[in-house]
Amino acid sequence: MNERYASLARRVEAARADGLLRRLRLVEPTGGTTARVDGRDVTLFCTNDYLGLADHPEIVAAYRGSGAGASRLISGNRPAHVALEEAIGALYGRPATLFGSGFTANLALLSTVLGPDDTVASDALNHASIIDGVRLSGAKKVILDHGRPDIPTGTRLAVVEGLYSMDGDILDLPRYFGDHWLAVDEAHTFACLGPGGRGAALAKGVVPDFLMGTLGKALGVVGAFVVGPPELRDLLVSFGRSFVYTTGLPEPVARAALVGLRLANDERRERLAHNARRLRVGLWQIGARALGDAHVVPVLTGERTMAVAEALLDRGYFAPGIRWPTVPQGQERVRITVSAAHTEDQIDGLVEALDGALRP
Ligand SMILES: Cc1ncc(COP(=O)(O)O)c(C=O)c1O
Repeated sequence: MNERYASLARRVEAARADGLLRRLRLVEPTGGTTARVDGRDVTLFCTNDYLGLADHPEIVAAYRGSGAGASRLISGNRPAHVALEEAIGALYGRPATLFGSGFTANLALLSTVLGPDDTVASDALNHASIIDGVRLSGAKKVILDHGRPDIPTGTRLAVVEGLYSMDGDILDLPRYFGDHWLAVDEAHTFACLGPGGRGAALAKGVVPDFLMGTLGKALGVVGAFVVGPPELRDLLVSFGRSFVYTTGLPEPVARAALVGLRLANDERRERLAHNARRLRVGLWQIGARALGDAHVVPVLTGERTMAVAEALLDRGYFAPGIRWPTVPQGQERVRITVSAAHTEDQIDGLVEALDGALRP
């Protein structure tokens, strides 16, 4: 062991002993929804490429141009950024601001609109980027039980997700609306749900004050945006640290996202919804316990979760096992995500494989 890094090595060993050390799998795409994962040919049921756009020929062809070379505030503001912001802005009727990722978009949004004198109400299952954004803001935090909008009087902002990526559920969003501001993270719903793909909140008739959407999931590219009132745009561009102090998105990425926005149409959304329904009906038929009601489909598998996920891999399907500390003990699950690109045969095959894998 190199003594210089002994303290790091001790932490690695402690994490290994607790079973908390994560490892990367090598995933080589073999076309559409299939890939070679650590040398095994499988069908992927774990991507966020919900509309099957990541390898669409028009998106791949759109990856042209150069890196931005600087922050957008210096010399990195390119026509492709402006065109993409205008297209997203037109979709929502309010200005959009681009970020390098959903993670950094949430950091900027929450640390810009909130300050130490504010109280924020945040759902208990909110994503790490929301938790970190709230921390950065210094605001006082009230954690809401998942799905319970008991928002204290005087709260400045309530923040929730459009679709929870570990539980697959959509909250009763109108009940989160009130005198306080509402921010909705539509990472898993932008381009998938709601009128024109505007997300879960608008599907339920709720117009959030602030909305974050990612370009890396349903659009198959990378990056994110925040929409809100014009004042928000001014503040993000001037004070959002992960906007100001970072290189603008590469032009090819902005171009590809713009194409993705055009390709993300109702036909693909309907196919996604159809595939999610087919999977849920199939799971019900084999007696599996699926949570939620959309294209993220967690199946409760208990203590055997990792063995079930491994048995699925052996049968040619990749959906990860999720265990404590990511989910509470007793709530372990195999997390399946569906895509518009899956065929009915692939979905039926997964159900059959799961039926076998769930039997000890
Ligand atoms: C709810 C939620 N918000 C934000 C993010 C971050 O998005 P990105 O992958 O674009 O950084 C994710 C991604 O996992 C997410 O699930």
